[in-house]
Amino acid sequence: MIMRQLLGLALLRAASGILRELYTTNAACKAQYCINPVFPALQDLPRLEKQRWGKHSYTNLTKFMKFCSGAVDYNIALPFIDASHNATRTQELAIAQDRQAAQTYFFHLSAMGIEPWDHENPFEDSASSDRACAREVARMACFTYLPAAIHSVPDGAEVRYHRPCDASCQSFLQTCGVECCDESTTCTWSASVSANLPELEVPGLAAPSSTCCPDKDKDTHDVQQSTDRPRHTQDQNGHDVVLFQGPGPF
Ligand SMILES: *[C@@H]1O[C@H](CO)[C@@H](O)[C@H](O)[C@H]1NC(C)=O
Ligand SMILES: *[C@@H]1O[C@H](CO)[C@@H](O)[C@H](O)[C@H]1NC(C)=O
Repeated sequence: MIMRQLLGLALLRAASGILRELYTTNAACKAQYCINPVFPALQDLPRLEKQRWGKHSYTNLTKFMKFCSGAVDYNIALPFIDASHNATRTQELAIAQDRQAAQTYFFHLSAMGIEPWDHENPFEDSASSDRACAREVARMACFTYLPAAIHSVPDGAEVRYHRPCDASCQSFLQTCGVECCDESTTCTWSASVSANLPELEVPGLAAPSSTCCPDKDKDTHDVQQSTDRPRHTQDQNGHDVVLFQGPGPF
């Protein structure tokens, strides 16, 4: 029921066009759940990293998260508003981000060929063999749109966008058995922004990231010099999206 409320009919109709299957030339390997983007919400990371975010304690906000409350047990970042003490606005933002996560979850599961209506509440127990995988898709979607605010700053203070952690990405790949038979099924990559993409403007992606799991305060990792190639996916309008870094830490 929750899912039906969160998803508009128009969105459901649009869903089929958003994700497309990828094909591999590696005959020895069997691809599974190899769709583009292979990670839920990957195409939105560059946009989210460019946005401004504000920290909020999750305790008073989880009740507004119909979908993600089962995944969010950390202080979150929401799109930044200057009027930081407007509780109504903050709640609206939590609801909107939660809804985006639910939509992404629904689309991604559909594209994987798993019936999302069988998994409307992925954080509840189920006898279905797909439930664990559905839950990992949901977690990645929730971690993307309700990113962790790892620093101890007052509520409303501006924080950086925090990408979903490597562990949740690995867990998604392993639990679901995602296989693309090529480099696209690795969680971490870090391409140099100078890597041969002159006319594409992707500000904000070159900076080192202190990404880690929402509930673990790991040390900041330096961005490694790497020869990884940037990856491409598409946004909902079919426009090219370039990803210099994967979801995980570096
Ligand atoms: C949470 O709500 C309670 C009661 O409405 C309030 O006293 C408290 O300050 C709130 N906590 C945060 C972190 O907003
Ligand atoms: C707080 O946010 C609500 C909803 O967005 C808005 O209607 C209201 O005017 C805001 N209040 C203040 C004091 O800015």
